[in-house]
Amino acid sequence: MPILEAHNISKTYYKTEETIPVLNKLNIVVEKGEILVLIGPSGSGKSTLLNILGTLDSDYSGNLIIDELPITNAVDLSNIRRHKLGFIFQFHHLLPEFTILENLLIPQMIAHNFSNVPQKATIDMLEIIGLKNRINHYPNEISGGERQRVAVLRAMVNKPCLILADEPTGNLDRENSQKMLKLMAELKANYQQSFIIATHDQSILDIADRVLYLKDGKIKKEI
Ligand SMILES: Nc1ncnc2c1ncn2[C@@H]1O[C@H](COP(=O)(O)OP(=O)(O)O)[C@@H](O)[C@H]1O
Ligand SMILES: [Mg+2]
Repeated sequence: MPILEAHNISKTYYKTEETIPVLNKLNIVVEKGEILVLIGPSGSGKSTLLNILGTLDSDYSGNLIIDELPITNAVDLSNIRRHKLGFIFQFHHLLPEFTILENLLIPQMIAHNFSNVPQKATIDMLEIIGLKNRINHYPNEISGGERQRVAVLRAMVNKPCLILADEPTGNLDRENSQKMLKLMAELKANYQQSFIIATHDQSILDIADRVLYLKDGKIKKEI
């Protein structure tokens, strides 16, 4: 059963004098519980595609279906993003004024209208990444690798069915990249989430169920 289907996705950027065609009638299907890795040269459109699949960019042509729901103008996108999707970016974008614990609670408070947020379960998740004793620290008081692992947890706290990650290990050294990948693989095994990960980090291929190669606006091959 697919968690996401995208059919005939095309996208062109228009600048004053230039048109930049990026995606050309591209098709992609992601199954539930699958880690799909998207590779391709810099500028091939990986980030553009992730933004479209994550409903962050609606300026494209083609059809997108998330968890059996066709994405149309009538759909409440923020509701889908809040409940069904999680995002991990190269730069973690944790909120600097809030503690580690608060950074994880805030998305849950938003999703659940500020009631019934499971604080203990969140602290238990922090234990998985070895940061239980840092819950009251601020993002600038932990290392880059630790922040990035918090960002992975933050993408997962609402138990989204699909997580989109854009170069999630892009700013990490090898050791921290390995920890991140291990965490994503563990979380996938525990919660059966699907992932789409755009990267040029070869080590991510280790946790991939399927690898797609993006070039010239299309999926060129499945590896
Ligand atoms: N907002 C934008 N306006 C114009 N061109 C863009 C914009 N964002 C990306 N592009 C161009 O689209 C192409 C694909 O970019 P991107 O999706 O960022 O590729 P990747 O993530 O694979 O490196 C590149 O040629 C890039 O310069
Ligand atoms: Mg990119």
